[in-house]
Amino acid sequence: MSNLTLRTMTPDDVPACMALKERAGWNQTTRDWLTFVELRPEGAFVATVDQEVVGTATTVDYGGQFSWIGMMLVSPDHRRKGIGSRLMRACIDSLSNCRTVKLDATPTGRRLYDTLGFQPEYTLTRMACNAVPKAEGEADVDVRPMAESDLDQVTAFDTPFFGAERGPVLRRWFHNAPESAFILREQGRVAAFSMARLGSHRACIGPVVGKTQEQAEHLILRALRDRAGEPVVIDVFEHTTTFLDALEELGFSAQRGFTRMFLGPNQAPGLPAHQWAIAGPAVG
Ligand SMILES: CC(C)(COP(=O)(O)OP(=O)(O)OC[C@H]1O[C@@H](n2cnc3c(N)ncnc32)[C@H](O)[C@@H]1OP(=O)(O)O)[C@@H](O)C(=O)NCCC(=O)NCCS
Repeated sequence: MSNLTLRTMTPDDVPACMALKERAGWNQTTRDWLTFVELRPEGAFVATVDQEVVGTATTVDYGGQFSWIGMMLVSPDHRRKGIGSRLMRACIDSLSNCRTVKLDATPTGRRLYDTLGFQPEYTLTRMACNAVPKAEGEADVDVRPMAESDLDQVTAFDTPFFGAERGPVLRRWFHNAPESAFILREQGRVAAFSMARLGSHRACIGPVVGKTQEQAEHLILRALRDRAGEPVVIDVFEHTTTFLDALEELGFSAQRGFTRMFLGPNQAPGLPAHQWAIAGPAVG
């Protein structure tokens, strides 16, 4: 396509990115797009045709352990013309210092990533509830609101579970919705935590990280307590089957699946058995 251009995304592109994601029924806000640009301005791209934004992709570099590609989206009017492949190559080239690239693929995205040599790692399930039921009884006393001063401890706690230090992402998730971040402590130490992203159509609870399912359930119940009547999604690991059962009892049902995929050696897989919800497919 001779009139196709790839360039880095700027804050001025965000209204066009919002229009594109709205056509796809995605859930990002203006704040989310700005967050992706801030996280890695040299690795966020738009594809344009005659100056119109027709495709997007963003990246996060998790300190050399692995990096992430997200927000891969091409306008329905321009699919199957190689734009997604060009965006992927731009992302991967921008991450040349990093041996491993990961992402969470939709079924359509997976077809593209298969062609580029990405391997499947495991499956995620989006659990959705259209209207969270009103909570009964007292809130869990062990679960406390997270404070900014907790972020260093939370990041250190999270690193072995996620597989890489993701302080910049956790900090932004916290700042974008501080009232939706909670900590569960045991003997004064962080034992589990949760955050949420307030999307344009629904809240997404995650990440939720902790050693036990019971801790994760306490955090989810606390997070849901503030969202009665609202639509909420939680992207969870399909292998945590009893956790999926617990979410079903709370009124959630499986909406769609993602495949976590990697390119290069998967040397830092983290501890997926103790991650209960991801931050989001765009960042892992
Ligand atoms: C996934 C997406 C970004 C692909 O963008 P695209 O510009 O159409 O991709 P390309 O044209 O570069 O496709 C390259 C190859 O990937 C494979 N592929 C891409 N889309 C496919 C589809 N819908 N069905 C089968 N194979 C597909 C094909 O092998 C294709 O090569 P071909 O057209 O020569 O057969 C686009 O379909 C999209 O925006 N989908 C909706 C949002 C989404 O799911 N994004 C992925 C998030 S993880």
